[in-house]
Amino acid sequence: MGAVDYEHKPVLIDEVMKSLHPRDGDFVIDCTFGRGGYSAAILQELDENGRVLALDADPDAIAHGERAFENEPRLVLAHSNYDRIVETLKELEMPAKADGIVFDLGVSSPQLDDATRGFSFRNDGPLDMRMNPQAGQSATEWLSAVSLKDLTRIISVLGEERMASRIARRIVESRDAAVLDSTARLAEIVYQAMPEKEKRQRKIHPATKTFQAIRMHVNQELEHLSAGLDAALDTLVVGGVLAVVSFHSLEDRMVKQLFRRSVLGDEVPDRLPLKEVDMGGNYEYVAKLVKPSEEETARNPRARSARLRAIKRIR
Ligand SMILES: C[S@@+](CC[C@H](N)C(=O)[O-])C[C@H]1O[C@@H](n2cnc3c(N)ncnc32)[C@H](O)[C@@H]1O
Repeated sequence: MGAVDYEHKPVLIDEVMKSLHPRDGDFVIDCTFGRGGYSAAILQELDENGRVLALDADPDAIAHGERAFENEPRLVLAHSNYDRIVETLKELEMPAKADGIVFDLGVSSPQLDDATRGFSFRNDGPLDMRMNPQAGQSATEWLSAVSLKDLTRIISVLGEERMASRIARRIVESRDAAVLDSTARLAEIVYQAMPEKEKRQRKIHPATKTFQAIRMHVNQELEHLSAGLDAALDTLVVGGVLAVVSFHSLEDRMVKQLFRRSVLGDEVPDRLPLKEVDMGGNYEYVAKLVKPSEEETARNPRARSARLRAIKRIR
């Protein structure tokens, strides 16, 4: 950590805590530790027998947590991707089932604010964008070889960017001329690719969606989320709650559809003589859809697109 200690304001914290409702003696998994805002709130509700396992793919988040929570014996921190919940519990010899599991998706404010991580177009830095800089390809490496077709598709789908083909073309032209290794340079290329009228009309920076798409691809965010949610459902005790805060419509759709299937159960043929109890799924809604209040969005603009959904295992 440098001289600056970057902060993260936990999003929808009261609503998340209401859904999770941790009690004395509970074992809760915080799949996205960040700066520990959720873990700290959960620990406050637990007695000395309660425990929290907190995961983060980012080694900086874990290192920071080890210092900030050094006097907290009930918290176990693990540098791990959340698609490895089951394996991590085994490796740490922790209980195989949890009373509550929470995901707070995307990037933390410290990751965005620290220019050296390469997530932000506002401060120039190396174009990296990996949550875990010890694994996988950086954005620079990926952009150096990606085809125009794949880049266009990723910016269009993950960025939900209408100008994807113009932007992708400009990026490929630039990276063919010189290595694309600066966030400011990428932001400038995207800006130049966009028609003047479009730039004027946008409420967000013209590079926002492209940066989001590249980040989501480099970190394989949707793939990890899909595997992580399945693992989380397998890890819940009966009576346990899974709560997810998402910021992107594709993530939210994935959560919504999985929760719907979990609550309603797989479709059963009309005429089969099943008892009513057999027809539903194994979960019930705790929070079908919760958005941040105007007061929270005013206090913390990064909460703007947050969506909370939560389900409880009932059998
Ligand atoms: C929005 S922040 C969480 C903030 C946290 N709730 C707090 O209050 O401080 C998301 C965190 O999830 C981590 N993360 C993202 N994808 C992950 C993954 N697949 N596995 C584990 N951690 C991940 C990021 O590194 C980041 O620290």
